[in-house]
Amino acid sequence: MKKYILALDQGTTSSRAILFDHQGRILGSAAQEFPQYFPQPGWVEHDPDEIWHSQLAVARKVLLDHHIESNQILAIGIANQRETTVVWDRATGEAIAPAIVWQDRRTADTCEALRAAGKAKKITDITGLELDAYFSATKLQWLLDHVPGARERARKGELAFGTVDSWLVFKLTGEHVTDVSNASRTMLFNIHLMRWDIDLLHLFDIPEEMLPTVVSSSEEVGTTRASLFGAAIPVAGIAGDQQAATFGQACLKPGMAKNTYGTGCFMLMQLGGHPVASHNRLLTTVGWRVDGATGYLLEGSVFMGGATVQWLRDGLGIIAKSSDVEALAASVPDSGGVFMVPAFVGLGAPHWDPYARGSLTGLSRGSNRAHIARAALEAIAYQSAELMAAMQKDVEASHRSLPLIEMRADGGAARNDLLMQFQADLLGVPVLRPQVTETTALGAAYLAGLAVGFWDSQEEIAAQWACERRFEPAMGPDQRAALLERWARAVERSKS
Ligand code: G3P
Repeated sequence: MKKYILALDQGTTSSRAILFDHQGRILGSAAQEFPQYFPQPGWVEHDPDEIWHSQLAVARKVLLDHHIESNQILAIGIANQRETTVVWDRATGEAIAPAIVWQDRRTADTCEALRAAGKAKKITDITGLELDAYFSATKLQWLLDHVPGARERARKGELAFGTVDSWLVFKLTGEHVTDVSNASRTMLFNIHLMRWDIDLLHLFDIPEEMLPTVVSSSEEVGTTRASLFGAAIPVAGIAGDQQAATFGQACLKPGMAKNTYGTGCFMLMQLGGHPVASHNRLLTTVGWRVDGATGYLLEGSVFMGGATVQWLRDGLGIIAKSSDVEALAASVPDSGGVFMVPAFVGLGAPHWDPYARGSLTGLSRGSNRAHIARAALEAIAYQSAELMAAMQKDVEASHRSLPLIEMRADGGAARNDLLMQFQADLLGVPVLRPQVTETTALGAAYLAGLAVGFWDSQEEIAAQWACERRFEPAMGPDQRAALLERWARAVERSKS
């Protein structure tokens, strides 16, 4: 009887389940979207029950669709949207409030007040994160402040806090745990000592009694309740989705990097066992802990990646569907001097200007929608190249030598050959697209499979990584420098 690993990829807009075989190939998958709630401007909520039920439904569906018995599943691995905050009643297993999603900005003022009180540096030193409403700490504080009696009940040990991984593991097994990668996104975790930080718990007034036990990313944490799948399946791998994707891309050696081209772009670089502090307001985060060894990552994100193409479709109306952008952009040899800076929601690393706004410059009488489409695609690559440059500066400042040799790409927009080629041109290193682009789920599967002996070693996993297409840089250094210089000028014009 063939054996498989079941990966659960619980993302911001959908829950997915994917079955992987021993070669790391996909046997099948199922996906289900779930509702997003926006009760006030800047607020984003999920219903924790809808997260759980959609996740359970797709897990059952993929087994049914492919006639797989639950005893053929050696282990379950979980990759999840990070930072999103859930609080539930330990006795009933019911959430006490909607989950506050990572995108939710309701606690921005709290963060500003903490910054004004001089707390930012200490928080960054301990957690590797920027003081921001993005992370769980102020979201959890908000729930404890606003749900009547919650803090008191938490102190008595009646309530549990967790990010989405914890919530799913609790529902699956009854255990209350989180892995080191998810813990590192709460802004409550000391990434140097690898434990919850008492000072930060006091600062945010969070009772320690409600915190999950921190576990490795690759270990058996419990088995599924018999009523769920008919068999007790070990849950043996957990990681935040971007960390899981980095593992799934087999970026296992220091200096290796991946970029996920989704709505935004998430770029992560492997640092090995020693964290690097950022001077460009990038994030230092825990990648995973496997066999007692912790891997750290540098992370940066581009706010408008594939979303720039969606804007061409929905805002400008110059394409009918997102995939049309490549043919339109390829109908001209270059952008004809047109630059689009998609600062629709401000600029992130390394500029950090929340008041910057989008701009379209360099238009001439000869410019047409093809040039604009090309400029939009190129903007995704320019922003990613800037992130990579900032990462390399941080690494150099730490006196470590981690030269970028290649970049591994995944996510929807990585299917766009023109974008991948331009990215390689701008980075001056090859961009590699893997055969399995479901890298998030694959990373979760690998972490779970390693724990139960389905795979023996990280070397075995690295050897499975196979390239679908390699984009070699074809641009000379002078042209690259000239383009980056013009991009920098366009960015300046977008700033507030
Ligand atoms: O930090 C947020 C990130 O984990 C969300 O990823 O893929 O669910 O949008 P995704």
